[in-house]
Amino acid sequence: MTNQAAWLDGTGQTFRVGSAEMPNIDANEVLIKNCAIAINPIDWKVRDYGWLIKHWPTILGSDAAGVVIDVGSEVHNFKKGDRVIGHGISMISQKPKHGTFQHYVAFEAPKVAKIPDSMSFNDACVLPLAFDTAATGLFKDHDKGYLGLEFPSISANPSDKKLIIYGGSSSVGALAIQLAVAAGAYVVAIASRKNFDFCRSCGAHEVFDYNDPTVVDEVVQAVKSGKPTDFVGIFDTISQEESYKIVVPILERLGSGNLATVLGGPSNLPAGSKTAYVEGINDYVDLLRGKFMTPALEQGILKCLPKPFVVGKGLESVEKGCLENKKGVSAKKVVIELEVE
Ligand SMILES: NC(=O)c1ccc[n+]([C@@H]2O[C@H](COP(=O)([O-])OP(=O)(O)OC[C@H]3O[C@@H](n4cnc5c(N)ncnc54)[C@H](OP(=O)(O)O)[C@@H]3O)[C@@H](O)[C@H]2O)c1
Repeated sequence: MTNQAAWLDGTGQTFRVGSAEMPNIDANEVLIKNCAIAINPIDWKVRDYGWLIKHWPTILGSDAAGVVIDVGSEVHNFKKGDRVIGHGISMISQKPKHGTFQHYVAFEAPKVAKIPDSMSFNDACVLPLAFDTAATGLFKDHDKGYLGLEFPSISANPSDKKLIIYGGSSSVGALAIQLAVAAGAYVVAIASRKNFDFCRSCGAHEVFDYNDPTVVDEVVQAVKSGKPTDFVGIFDTISQEESYKIVVPILERLGSGNLATVLGGPSNLPAGSKTAYVEGINDYVDLLRGKFMTPALEQGILKCLPKPFVVGKGLESVEKGCLENKKGVSAKKVVIELEVE
């Protein structure tokens, strides 16, 4: 077996396809042959701005779906031939073997989940980073500014919790809606009108349009009226000036509330509110993979959304994929198919 990767040689460079070492796996790692990889905004942001990376060249990429080739001596829950998805962490570990933009990748076993036989690799690879980011924002401690929901389950009963998910049609938003609903919460989503049905297909109970001048009034009304009544806060999956112009006035009108963000938070949060930055790479949500993710995928409770938008085959398409994502996508995930001998 030989390996190839889409290498990034430095800030502002284009991806270069070339040979790479076959990843050496540690005792707690799994070696995967990648069949499909997905592109996330962080990939082109790291490339454009040089964030996070301390050693060049590197191999980026967070999302992959593929087949287990080998397991480390301490891994007992996966075996050769298993169909899986994995969350690559090369941006944090600084080890190229952990980036998914290559034919063979090493994942820490807790970052891997089995997928059903009937699920395509293209569909499944949309999940890992968005799942972890959404779960972190939703389930970490309310005291710290996150939303503090109970963990999701296969048979969740409706709870007394209500929350707003801003950017419901983004990758992180689609997972946040699904996971919040699987935790029993009542979800008020905000997205553009063309994606109302998409947000409903993720499970949102109500959806409002961020382009509508009355969006703040309407969302406040939705939160204040009806049941359930325990408002836990807002998950802003966009976290930019445009979203803060809407979520901050909503919190002001509601008195206060938590605000989980995926980028730096606003400076004008109303008194009594808390904000927390969500780190999409962490160990906190690892236990959800076997306990919830795999059975939820098997039972159709967790869907592979947004749907893949396949931009090409082979590692040469990583460059194109990053450009497509940077141009902007709407309720879809840029995916690249890999055919590995
Ligand atoms: N902190 C972390 O660890 C972490 C992890 C993952 C992602 N992120 C960040 O989270 C952000 C979202 O990532 P993603 O992959 O989920 O993005 P994405 O899927 O590429 O986002 C595309 C979506 O954003 C929506 N959108 C764009 N501008 C909007 C606005 N002003 N208001 C509401 N919705 C808007 C669009 O909705 P419509 O088409 O409906 O208009 C579109 O569906 C990125 O900035 C990413 O870098 C951070």
